[in-house]
Amino acid sequence: MSILDPVPELPASVDARQPSAARAYDYFLGGSHNFAADREFADQVLAIAPSIPAVTRLNRSFLRRAVRYCLDQGIRQFLDLGSGIPTVGNTHQVAESAGVTARVVYVDNEPVAYHHAQHVLAGSETTTIIQADMRDLPAVLDHPDTRRLLDFSQPVGLLVVGVLLYFEDPQPAELIRAYRQRLAPGSLIAVSTLTDEHASPALRSEMEMLRGAYEAAGEPVYPRDHAEILSWFDGLDLVDPGLVTLPEWHTEDPNELDDVARPLGYGAVARLP
Ligand SMILES: C[S@@+](CC[C@H](N)C(=O)[O-])C[C@H]1O[C@@H](n2cnc3c(N)ncnc32)[C@H](O)[C@@H]1O
Repeated sequence: MSILDPVPELPASVDARQPSAARAYDYFLGGSHNFAADREFADQVLAIAPSIPAVTRLNRSFLRRAVRYCLDQGIRQFLDLGSGIPTVGNTHQVAESAGVTARVVYVDNEPVAYHHAQHVLAGSETTTIIQADMRDLPAVLDHPDTRRLLDFSQPVGLLVVGVLLYFEDPQPAELIRAYRQRLAPGSLIAVSTLTDEHASPALRSEMEMLRGAYEAAGEPVYPRDHAEILSWFDGLDLVDPGLVTLPEWHTEDPNELDDVARPLGYGAVARLP
């Protein structure tokens, strides 16, 4: 089964008439794991906030560079929270393309993401997905698959990429604090999230309309400013260059620095002392 194949037999729990932010994200990235209601919702978002697909691509590109950085630092196991519907450049594939076999546990509570990832990963001994709410730490950390694949006495790469935007304060800070208590020193935590702090008036008004659309669809999103996101890293050592817009973090493609969506996302990687 390829990650590009459509989802086979869906679980009864999936209501294809109800749009989902996870499946709209898949649509923005050019994926095929979305339904008519998701595409309709995504097209509405595109009409009011045309910069959104660009920020999803910048986010995905940040994820790749953050995973590669973790690999370069010797990290060989990842917990990827809110991993999303499998699309090109998933964490285990970034490792594979670097010639490394990493152990990866994906976590997502969205049934299509879970169902499809299960098919993509069937037979893998080193990578799996669990369906859980990442805010339920025992459900994630005490899951038999997490225990089987991840050794928390050794450094772990904790990926919290493109997901904290869904949580109201003070949940993001609390979640990072709670997870880090279970991580060994030397673990790395990668975070990216939405911001409109330095957005132009035009981008800011796109963001306001976007927030309205997501709220109406029952999935509100919360942009944050630099100071607030920085506070989530209290007590951690930020890896250079710190908390910056997504393309500025270990830039590989200088064209991304000119992307119109650049002011909409911040990212950072931090090390557990
Ligand atoms: C925007 S996608 C990001 C996917 C991927 N991390 C990336 O950056 O490309 C956010 C994902 O987080 C998942 N998600 C949202 N809330 C969650 C929760 N409480 N627990 C687990 N996953 C969640 C959604 O289902 C979605 O698949």
